[in-house]
Amino acid sequence: MTDHYAVLGNPIAHSKSPAIHGAFARQTGQDILYSPLLAPRDGFREVVDAFRAGGGLGANVTVPFKEEAFLLAHQRTPRAEAAGAVNTLVFEPHAIVGDNTDGVGLVRDLMGNLGLELAGRRILLVGAGGAAKGVILPLLEQQPETVFIVNRTPEKATALADRFGCRGGGFGALSGEGFDLVIHASAASLAGERPPLDDAVFNPGCLAYDMMYGRETPFMAHARACGATVADGLGMLVEQAAEAFLLWRGVRPDTRPVMDLIRAA
Ligand code: ATR
Repeated sequence: MTDHYAVLGNPIAHSKSPAIHGAFARQTGQDILYSPLLAPRDGFREVVDAFRAGGGLGANVTVPFKEEAFLLAHQRTPRAEAAGAVNTLVFEPHAIVGDNTDGVGLVRDLMGNLGLELAGRRILLVGAGGAAKGVILPLLEQQPETVFIVNRTPEKATALADRFGCRGGGFGALSGEGFDLVIHASAASLAGERPPLDDAVFNPGCLAYDMMYGRETPFMAHARACGATVADGLGMLVEQAAEAFLLWRGVRPDTRPVMDLIRAA
């Protein structure tokens, strides 16, 4: 019998998750069906309940429902607790377990696919919303020298930094500091803007990583012009999916061919 999974979001038609999980299933010989499910903004819980009642075994959750999924879960993993958000639900017979695979997906992309050592490195995280919050703990676990959180609204950055025991502030607080890895997790690109970073934040040999994918963002263009190596978030997307697939199916898919497939599409 085919096992059912889904990705819930609003909007959802653009999601690459069905193609990614479809490729994982073919590669590993797992008999699963993975569908996109559009949830009304005020009807997330109802869609989850109906999917689960119909036999669904698990779901990914994307914008704007990750915080709601966190509240809906009966049990949460430590990495979901740290993120304050859930992107993967596991439907057990008597409980919904909430996990967050975004951070580990980013770290696996940085270290595994891009070959970056994080220990002892200086990391700048741009943004203090949900996307940023989800990756702080997994980054800190790699024991970088610094994780500095910078944000348009400085108070949000300092609050997050205090919670995780790292540094944070507004863009003015960077005062000429340089970093080996700059991760863009703000929504500036959606407005066609880039975060107001000085050229000096990009150390020689710096990797500039944008969590967005699919097109060159103004942040990426700026970083490239400053001499940084640039990567988009497609690898993170595929790696977080692989981690969810592992949770559900107990098998870790090989991500490289799937990244190539999604990029070619
Ligand atoms: P997400 O869950 O995608 O992170 P969010 O929680 O709305 O979304 O957070 C968006 C982040 O992008 C915030 O850090 C926001 O900064 P503020 O805290 O000051 O709102 C940041 N952001 C949004 N538009 C931006 C812009 N034009 N320039 C710089 N940062 C921006």
